[in-house]
Amino acid sequence: MNVLILGSGGREHALSWKIAQSPMLDNLYIAPGNAGTNDIGQNVNLDILDFDRIAEFALSERIDMIIVGPEAPLVAGIFDYFENKDACRHIKIVGPSLEGSKLEGSKSYGKVFMQENGIPTAAYGEFTKDTLQEGIAHLRATKGPYVLKADGLAGGKGVLIIHDLEEAEEELKSMLSGKFGDASATVVIEEFLDGIEFSVFVLTDGERYKVLPVAKDYKRIGEGDTGLNTGGMGAVSPVPFVDDVMMKKVEDQIIRPTIAGLQKRKIKYIGFVFLGLISVDGEPKVIEYNCRMGDPETEVVMPRIESDLLPVLGALGTDEFDELPLEQDPRFCTTVMLVSGGYPEAYEKGKQINGINEVEDSIVFHAGTKQEDENVYTNGGRVIAVSSYGDSKDEAIAKSMKNAEKISFDKKNYRKDIGFDL
Ligand code: AMP
Ligand code: GLY
Repeated sequence: MNVLILGSGGREHALSWKIAQSPMLDNLYIAPGNAGTNDIGQNVNLDILDFDRIAEFALSERIDMIIVGPEAPLVAGIFDYFENKDACRHIKIVGPSLEGSKLEGSKSYGKVFMQENGIPTAAYGEFTKDTLQEGIAHLRATKGPYVLKADGLAGGKGVLIIHDLEEAEEELKSMLSGKFGDASATVVIEEFLDGIEFSVFVLTDGERYKVLPVAKDYKRIGEGDTGLNTGGMGAVSPVPFVDDVMMKKVEDQIIRPTIAGLQKRKIKYIGFVFLGLISVDGEPKVIEYNCRMGDPETEVVMPRIESDLLPVLGALGTDEFDELPLEQDPRFCTTVMLVSGGYPEAYEKGKQINGINEVEDSIVFHAGTKQEDENVYTNGGRVIAVSSYGDSKDEAIAKSMKNAEKISFDKKNYRKDIGFDL
């Protein structure tokens, strides 16, 4: 099989690393990729939103499968584009249709979908400029903290949690006046849920499904979960408090109703569903849907999949899918993200990275890196994820931390408390 992976982060390096182990693989391409992906496959300089060029490349290289890493090409309709083009229809896109991607692309769509299917989630209201006064009345009738969400994609910045009522009212006005452009033309106001978060990943074709290893990511920049939200500073899998009892609740109350909901709406969904969940007094609720894998969760989920993933992806949409195993490695896997100083605000790129070759007993997944001549340089906010196995969470984390120290670049930053609350 010839496979093309779209994206350039740690998630895509981890997906490449896993796919490259498959005896079924012939050629692996990553567009645009990073310094790490080019070591296992071949990077291709393609814009992930330029579907015409992606199709041209896929046809010329006889690509059988395209795995879409980030949400942007999905929300822009890459699945529908390939399905509607006669010459490309045989290429399997791992990623949902435009309609399915709305589960992530529109908070309002996701909330309606959950209500329709009786899926536990926070109570909410949604408001536009025309219903601003109702929005303000809604806030006044709610007890804080106030959770305001831009309906559309806002680069991970569209969720605000505010303690002060007056401030929440001002933010609502500002969001509805275009604080996040069109993305906040509609704002969802949610009940605040107090609990501990975790991520469940489901691989589905809209009919059949398999549950991948559970993970927990650490989103805040600062230790003790303080400071600004980031794309994710580290992750742990499995998650000790997510036991069989909890997973049964997730499967019965969330996963199965989600798949049934896709069918009810006749949504074409071949790909990953990322359930952002929160346990409130032992009961799981959905915080958000994403239509892709998480990053850095993928950097701990892929290492914990023992079975060959490529045939499983290939069997999506056929009965063979149910027969193929997806065994999980019983060990823990943890990852620690090395980031550029200043991230998630302004940061510099182009710093030389040293010490990668000194890493022992961890997997180095590149995120924002690029290769020039013999050297690797930083090329993003999140630079490298150091993933490690361990028989315990603490053993895995100790390895990641030890190796995180060995890798150096100017203004390197990372959290030393990943897993602290587990
Ligand atoms: P989202 O982009 O919807 O995942 O929201 C970003 C983060 O905001 C989540 O990971 C949670 O930490 C927090 N959050 C979102 N919705 C709620 C809620 N209803 N109650 C409490 N925290 C929330
Ligand atoms: N780590 C959270 C995300 O990928 O959205």
